[in-house]
Amino acid sequence: MYSGQILLGRENELFRAGFCLIKATLPGLLERSNMLHPSESMYFNTLKYDRRKTSYLLGRIAAKNAVLQQINQEVAPNSFSVTYGVFQFPVVKHLPSNNIQVSISHCDQIGFAVGFPEEHPMGIDIEKIDADKIEAMKSMICAEEFDKINTLPVSILIGSTLIWTIKEALSKVLRTGLMIDFKILEIGELKKEEESYTSTFKHFSQYKAVSYHVGDYIYSLVLPKNTSCDLVQFHNILRTL
Ligand SMILES: CC(C)(COP(=O)(O)OP(=O)(O)OC[C@H]1O[C@@H](n2cnc3c(N)ncnc32)[C@H](O)[C@@H]1OP(=O)(O)O)[C@@H](O)C(=O)NCCC(=O)NCCS
Repeated sequence: MYSGQILLGRENELFRAGFCLIKATLPGLLERSNMLHPSESMYFNTLKYDRRKTSYLLGRIAAKNAVLQQINQEVAPNSFSVTYGVFQFPVVKHLPSNNIQVSISHCDQIGFAVGFPEEHPMGIDIEKIDADKIEAMKSMICAEEFDKINTLPVSILIGSTLIWTIKEALSKVLRTGLMIDFKILEIGELKKEEESYTSTFKHFSQYKAVSYHVGDYIYSLVLPKNTSCDLVQFHNILRTL
């Protein structure tokens, strides 16, 4: 499990986000289940399938650590909870610091979370590059976005997965999830930087996305466009997973 902080520079202010990445299977996660708040344990005990038990624990353990990094205080992980809002978005409760939010994603054995202050919205997503999902992803990508993929040195599969994760991460910022017309989430610019991909949104000009392709996965973070941050430590951690 790896966690750290990301400083978020604004014109006249500096915010901090905390992040956590965890790679584990169910037995290893169960050993850490004492991190759950009693209300989370109650929910966990209703889960029937190992796949969901795994994803729930990956998400909650990553979320707890990301939030602890964000608040930068010694707080027992089981003293606060990450519950659900009405559209299934995560809600942090019982924390001594107020207005802390978290975004969660999980895929296979990887859990990823970012904790951030309410003043500075963020959303994340991780997706496996999986040829079996290409048709579903392509059906949600418009002609202009395919043109953008074609300007990048990547396959259609990688490009489609990239666009998919960027849209999922934005949909988490908006708290709609993917129950939204995909056209509204349309990508504006999409560029390859040295180690990352950066993108903007046609209809959400106040946000940008930064994405990394590491191994079989694509990781995307959506954050306010005018925020400057150094993601080198985050990227190095992705490479060690
Ligand atoms: C939300 C959604 C984008 C998640 O994407 P995914 O690839 O399935 O899964 P990920 O691992 O990336 O993300 C899952 C996490 O997203 C978070 N999430 C779920 N709904 C969310 C929303 N509306 N806004 C922000 N975050 C949300 C949760 O924390 C969830 O993890 P958890 O259930 O373990 O807490 C996608 O599932 C979706 O849009 N579903 C349709 C909406 C839906 O079914 N809503 C339910 C009731 S209205």
